[in-house]
Amino acid sequence: MWRSTIVLKVAMAISGLILVLYLLAHMYGNLKVFAGQEAFDGYSHHLRTMGEPLLPYAGALWIIRVVLLVAVILHIYCAVTLWRRMRLATAGGGGQRYESTKARRGNQRTYASFTMRWGGVVIALFVVYHLLHLTWNTISPGGASGSPYERVVNGFSIWWVVLSYTVALLAVGFHLRHGVWAALASLGANTSQRRRRHLNVLATVVALLITVGFLIPPFAILFGLVG
Ligand code: HEM
Repeated sequence: MWRSTIVLKVAMAISGLILVLYLLAHMYGNLKVFAGQEAFDGYSHHLRTMGEPLLPYAGALWIIRVVLLVAVILHIYCAVTLWRRMRLATAGGGGQRYESTKARRGNQRTYASFTMRWGGVVIALFVVYHLLHLTWNTISPGGASGSPYERVVNGFSIWWVVLSYTVALLAVGFHLRHGVWAALASLGANTSQRRRRHLNVLATVVALLITVGFLIPPFAILFGLVG
């Protein structure tokens, strides 16, 4: 089954959509920073105690982590395999396998391949940096703390930390703008001109919502509105 290109595209779409759902929830949760330290740290604590006593401490969080990890590995495996197949099928010429000359050159193809491949690499590097910063507390710009709220406020009081997150979130935004559209198209939703228009609007709204929603707390902290 895994030899089928269509199965790989569908797996890529479903794993990508799972990650989009996580991003929406994570972005919404981060906005709790506006409710103050107690609310934000309480939310972080709740992430670990939810599901108790049925599940052990942090049990539900670990289930979410495993789902995310499987989705990320699957997403990257499918991306690399599909990319290598495209290279093999076109002898490195990419995009020249179609009779039609449409999209052989120009904006659309360059935009999509650049944002998906290089954007994907930037996002993967960012996630490692972000975990070192806010989850494992290994790097602590602005000062280490046992409180997630303080870690966030200390970090985003520094301009280059905000800049690094801004670059990463722009990469996330472009990746989602094309990725949400491509995922829904792979799942068969682009059946007419009208539906394609709707998919384009939906992809733009999701990408903007996630990028702007994530960027609000860092800039609010940098400009002294929080903390
Ligand atoms: C300004 C943007 C962001 C802020 C302020 C932020 C904040 C945080 C914080 C505070 C934590 C630790 C939560 C805790 O331990 O209780 C965390 C964890 C995490 N964040 Fe972010 N985040 C941001 C963007 C992102 C983005 C764009 C991604 C993915 C592309 C991401 C993925 C993760 C992951 C995977 C975890 C680990 C969750 C876990 O396993 O505990 N974050 N984030």
